[in-house]
Amino acid sequence: MDKKYKGIIFDLDGVICFTDHYHYLAWKAIADKKGIYFDEVINNRLRGVSRMESLEIILERCDETLTQDEKNALAEEKNGIYKELLKNMGPSDLSAEVKDTLDALRARGLKLAIGSSSKNTQFILERIGLKGYFDAVSDGNNITNSKPDPEVFLKAAQFIHEEPEDCLVIEDAYAGIDAACAGGFDSAAIGDASAYEKSTYRLNSFSDLLAICK
Ligand code: BG6
Ligand code: MG
Repeated sequence: MDKKYKGIIFDLDGVICFTDHYHYLAWKAIADKKGIYFDEVINNRLRGVSRMESLEIILERCDETLTQDEKNALAEEKNGIYKELLKNMGPSDLSAEVKDTLDALRARGLKLAIGSSSKNTQFILERIGLKGYFDAVSDGNNITNSKPDPEVFLKAAQFIHEEPEDCLVIEDAYAGIDAACAGGFDSAAIGDASAYEKSTYRLNSFSDLLAICK
């Protein structure tokens, strides 16, 4: 396929940097406190999914029925633990490969945006030294429906004034590839989602994007 894209929309967690283990540790603390079984395999199901939906997945193994207030309190507690852990992140958590590829794509005239379910997107971008780098950031704070709904990517495309068919979405989550398809975007899958046949391209490495977006 030889298509000329005008914009690239990157998922954050699992694409630009890696926060899964911190999500895991924070959810694990909550699950342990409630006596709920939780492991890294269940954690994989939380990829791309919003905080409250992640909690619902964890609560599938809870015998107790919780009120909405109790759920909100648990989600907030998890976020407090998670944000403390994120303080361990710094510019060294942005790989040279990712940064060099982003710079090269920008030099080719492509607009670069973030499309992430996370409400901590700006905090993470700041930690890894990318505050203010992207042309637009669409995240968990400006959407009502999270992936696999396409809203976060449609907003990102609007923010950079491009049509979905002119943008490529980069994702590591199955829910994210589904969201890209639902929004009419081509997608490139990396990491966990790289075996997903619904994606337009599969990346072995982030820099493979340079061969797709010429
Ligand atoms: C996504 C992660 O980027 O953000 C999910 O892949 C996470 O695992 C979601 O649940 C929401 O994150 P946050 O930071 O708003 O709790
Ligand atoms: Mg992700």
